[in-house]
Amino acid sequence: MGLEIQGIDTFYGTSHILHGVTLNVPDGAMVSVLGRNGVGKSTLLKSIIGINPPKNGSIQFNGADVTKEKTHQHVRAGISYIPQGREIIPDISVYENLMVAMRGIKNRSKKIPAFIFEYFPALEPTQKRKGGVLSGGQQQQLAIARALIQEPSLLLMDEPTEGLQPSVVEEINTIIQRIHKERNCSILLVEQNLDFVRDVTEHFAIMDSGQIVEEGDIQLLTDEFAGQYLSV
Ligand SMILES: Nc1ncnc2c1ncn2[C@@H]1O[C@H](COP(=O)(O)OP(=O)(O)OP(=O)(O)O)[C@@H](O)[C@H]1O
Ligand SMILES: [Mg+2]
Repeated sequence: MGLEIQGIDTFYGTSHILHGVTLNVPDGAMVSVLGRNGVGKSTLLKSIIGINPPKNGSIQFNGADVTKEKTHQHVRAGISYIPQGREIIPDISVYENLMVAMRGIKNRSKKIPAFIFEYFPALEPTQKRKGGVLSGGQQQQLAIARALIQEPSLLLMDEPTEGLQPSVVEEINTIIQRIHKERNCSILLVEQNLDFVRDVTEHFAIMDSGQIVEEGDIQLLTDEFAGQYLSV
């Protein structure tokens, strides 16, 4: 069970980006996807979440075929997505950013659930501020909070540490590990930060030119090994 991606091909118009990608994220697993710029990492997450569904191949989640589902259907099924660059809505408040994410989920109320501020106490006093005025670190916290509010069982994260200073990267690291443990949530993490990947995930996959070219236990991901595929 969990997420099973089998031989997917994804296109933007006529550009063929993903070539037969196969990858599993078993229930409870923490898996990373690495690779140079432009190899198709974000496209893989967009294929899973239904922003750009694959043309061929299949995606199963907990045994159900979700290949052609729309994003809101994935969210209802328990898959949430944190896009690269965070994509906070800058002109509405932090509270409203969180409420937007609650659309379409069960038992929705007008109140932000208390557990959100247990994970992100720093966000509580910012609720009335516009999303766009937050610091990069706070915006990443908001981006994670927005996904967490949907109570996912699988979280797709696209380069959550990009552009953040080391102390904030540490905080994000702790949060991801807590979410995994305390919220019983599997993680599929796209990252270029090797130390972060080694710290957080148990299994890695390396992409090149729209294909998975290496895969294995995180212990195998030495600098030397990764250096063949990434600029370490
Ligand atoms: N909306 C789009 N329309 C057309 N081509 C796109 C689009 N988005 C991405 N591409 C192309 O698809 C390929 C893969 O892009 P993708 O964003 O998946 O790479 P990535 O591995 O996430 O890169 P990065 O590390 O820079 O985030 C690139 O050649 C890119 O130019
Ligand atoms: Mg990307």
